[in-house]
Amino acid sequence: MNKILLFGKGGRLGSALQRYYPDIVGISKADCDITNLAAVQRVIKQVSPTTIINCAVVSDVAYCEQHPQHAWDVNVRGVRNIAEAARENGAYMVHFSSDYALYPVNEYGWTKLASEALIRYGITIRTKFFDASYWLYQALMTGQTVELFTNTVINPISIYSLIPYVLLLIEKKPVGIINIGTRARISHYDLGMQICAAFKINKELIIPKNAFTMNYNYPLDTFMDLRDLTQLGLSLVNIEEDIQIFKKQVLTWKDENL
Ligand SMILES: NC(=O)c1ccc[n+]([C@@H]2O[C@H](COP(=O)([O-])OP(=O)(O)OC[C@H]3O[C@@H](n4cnc5c(N)ncnc54)[C@H](OP(=O)(O)O)[C@@H]3O)[C@@H](O)[C@H]2O)c1
Repeated sequence: MNKILLFGKGGRLGSALQRYYPDIVGISKADCDITNLAAVQRVIKQVSPTTIINCAVVSDVAYCEQHPQHAWDVNVRGVRNIAEAARENGAYMVHFSSDYALYPVNEYGWTKLASEALIRYGITIRTKFFDASYWLYQALMTGQTVELFTNTVINPISIYSLIPYVLLLIEKKPVGIINIGTRARISHYDLGMQICAAFKINKELIIPKNAFTMNYNYPLDTFMDLRDLTQLGLSLVNIEEDIQIFKKQVLTWKDENL
C-alpha cells in the first residue's frame, strides 16, 4: 500500500492535497524544519512512507530576492535533506518545482532549478498553478483593479486539475522532470481576462502591464512543453475547461464553508 508523507502541509498546494487525500501524513514547518537534516531523517524514519511529496518552499519571489540565503537554505538545502532521507528509506519522491526553472532569471528561479538536480528516485513536477487563494482571483472577486503582464507566455493550470495528475504520477512512478500545465499559450493578462469572463467580473478591473517594469527580473516565456504527460498516457486539458473546473470547485468549496 502507498503511504504518503507530505512536507509543507500548510501551504497552498500542501493543504489542497490534504483536503483531497486525508490519508496523507502532513508535516508542517513547526513539526519539522526541512533545513535540519536530522529532523527530516527522524520524521521519515518514524512515518516510513513509500512516497514523499515535497511542497515546502520559500515561494515569495520578491522575498527571495531580498533573502537569498534563506531561499537557498529551504529551496535547495531543504530539498537535499529530504532527498537524502528518502534515499536512505527507499521512498519515491515527488518534488515540486516551478515554471520559473525553465527560464531562471531570479533567486527563486535559480533555487528551483538547483533543487531539480537533487531528486534521484522520484519525479520533479514543474508547474504554474492557481487556486482560490491566488491573489489575482482574490483581487478581482473583491472588485480591486489588478495590473497584469501582457508580454509573458504561460500555460497555467488550476490546482484542481493539477492534483489528479499528481496522484496518477504517484501510481506510475516515473523518474525525471515532468511539466504539468494546460494546453494554453497565454499571458497573465489573458488569464485574468478568462477568469473575468468565467466569473462575470468587470474586465476593466484589469490594467495591462509590462513585465520589464518589475523591480526584479521576471521570466517572460515559461511555456511548458507537455509532451511527457501525453507520452505517459495522460490527457491534457484546455485552459477554458480548466477555468470551468476551477469555478465549479471554488463555488462548491465556498458553499461548503459558509
Ligand atoms: N504557488 C504557485 O503558483 C506555484 C507555482 C508553481 C510551482 N509551485 C511550487 O509548488 C510547491 C508548493 O507551493 P505553494 O504555493 O503551495 O507554497 P506556499 O503556499 O508558499 O507554502 C509553502 C509551505 O512550505 C512551508 N515551509 C517553508 N519553509 C519551511 C521549512 N524550512 N521547513 C518546513 N516547511 C517549510 C511553509 O510553512 P509555514 O507556513 O509554516 O511557513 C508552507 O506551509 C513549491 O515547490 C512551489 O515552488 C508553486
